[in-house]
Amino acid sequence: MRKDLSSNTSVWTDITPPELDVLTGDQTCQVCVIGAGIAGLTTAYMLTRMGRSVIVLEDGTVGSGETRRTTAHLANALDDRYFELEKIRGKAVAKLAAESHSAAISRIESIVESEGIDCDFQRLDGFLFVPPKRSIRPLKRELEAAHRAGLTGVELLDRAPLESFDTGPCLRFPNQGQFHPLKYLSGLVEILRENGARLYTSAHVTNVKGGKRTMVETQQGHVVSADAVVVATNSPITDVVSIHTKQFPYRTYAIGATVPTGSVHPGLYWDTLDPYHYIRLQNDGMLIVGGEDHKTGQDEDPTSRFSRLQRWAAKRFPIEDVKFRWSGQVIETMDGLAFIGKDPSGLENVYIVTGDSGMGMTHGTIAGILLSDLIMGRENPWTEVYDPARKPVRGLTEIVKENVNVAAQYTDWVTGGDVASVEDIPVGEGAVLRDGVSKRAVYRNEDGQLHAMSAVCTHLGCIVKWNTAEKSWDCPCHGSRFDSLGKVINGPATKELAPVDLRKIA
Ligand SMILES: Cc1cc2nc3c(=O)[nH]c(=O)nc-3n(C[C@H](O)[C@H](O)[C@H](O)COP(=O)(O)OP(=O)(O)OC[C@H]3O[C@@H](n4cnc5c(N)ncnc54)[C@H](O)[C@@H]3O)c2cc1C
Ligand code: FES
Repeated sequence: MRKDLSSNTSVWTDITPPELDVLTGDQTCQVCVIGAGIAGLTTAYMLTRMGRSVIVLEDGTVGSGETRRTTAHLANALDDRYFELEKIRGKAVAKLAAESHSAAISRIESIVESEGIDCDFQRLDGFLFVPPKRSIRPLKRELEAAHRAGLTGVELLDRAPLESFDTGPCLRFPNQGQFHPLKYLSGLVEILRENGARLYTSAHVTNVKGGKRTMVETQQGHVVSADAVVVATNSPITDVVSIHTKQFPYRTYAIGATVPTGSVHPGLYWDTLDPYHYIRLQNDGMLIVGGEDHKTGQDEDPTSRFSRLQRWAAKRFPIEDVKFRWSGQVIETMDGLAFIGKDPSGLENVYIVTGDSGMGMTHGTIAGILLSDLIMGRENPWTEVYDPARKPVRGLTEIVKENVNVAAQYTDWVTGGDVASVEDIPVGEGAVLRDGVSKRAVYRNEDGQLHAMSAVCTHLGCIVKWNTAEKSWDCPCHGSRFDSLGKVINGPATKELAPVDLRKIA
């Protein structure tokens, strides 16, 4: 089973989600869902409600991917802005995006109510503000675009309702939401079991075959055959190339700090910086502040991001103790909308959801609604909006820039190592070493023992980087991540880093 070796803990770890059975043999079902995060479990839930027999395969625990690292703002305010989406995809798509994100919040609310899930769900307003001394023109453009997209309740205010911090002019997005994501997933698991779904852990999927009857193979040697497969692994493990030229992984950071009760008005808050800050309360005593994003595997000192966040928060809010700090991964797309639908590499009866764009709570729920419709052969007005095969029409400059950045990472093959010898690697840290024409990823564990692996990412061959904040090997190309001993944490890679005999390192 996948282990998270990072010492960083999110605020959601106050509860332990239900344990899953271990997959011990071959199985058959109508739909096999890979991944027990919000996207996989919501899709499984919708399908069991429609009478399908469902198996969920997960290689870790419930929510052990990005869902337990989220800050769980439930918003129809787009991170990438309605006016930008209009430019790239047009007004009709912007309207459908607004409709789908609003529907996702409502769907979560109705599931919580009808199934009686106790997960701290609440409706509240969201506030978008510009940094001090910046023009409010982006707010005005967003106000107009949001109204055109049908969000007519959005309004421009003089400031957000925060006593300790004068945000200046801001947009108010009414009727957003928030919840405790792991409590929500735990509730879904209970209901899925009542509905007859089979959920398994220790099932690391290494291969998916499309067809009239699909086959899902696990590393442990078991096969699940199904009429359809949903790949909800956050980064898809089926389409290994094309989708990864259209989406780009970023690390993002969050802290949870205590604040005096009643000192911060409940709401969702975002600024318009790039990278931006995102803020919310949990249980009126814990302020969650996120931000400091950077491309995965492309920062030398990720731990400093936590202190920067803390300083930013301390200037604006009455924070006391920082009790939690954690980081996670978001996947940005060319237009800020996820890819949800048929596998674009053409695998028959295989569906994917990826490209959360920092809005994976609502995108994961949209996936549940849209994919269950597609699998049941029903029409859904959002099909084209989220089609994974869609081609960039505008916004090409940004895509070219991102892909040039990816290509530049391959030059790491010819550069030196991070350190000259294994002697230079401190306890609990890792480094990449040059070894003749090869590069090795070497980790020294807390007992001082060395573990050597190939530094070549098993997805498409970039050289991984050591992430000192998470104690992981991160690939700067398409966001695959491996734990300190080389096991896969995030796809698209499905194979671990190849072990290397330390004695053979030159
Ligand atoms: C710090 C942070 C803040 C965020 N804030 C927000 C926010 O406020 N609002 C919002 O909407 N979104 C937010 N997001 C994004 C959101 O959390 C994610 O997009 C969302 O949780 C992704 O859900 P998922 O189900 O797609 O993926 P995951 O939760 O990652 O689930 C995928 C699952 O698949 C499993 N898996 C992967 N590969 C395999 C394999 N080969 N075999 C078997 N199982 C496999 C993993 O173990 C994992 O459990 C944030 C993200 C971060 C990191
Ligand atoms: S994630 Fe693609 S090469 Fe590493």
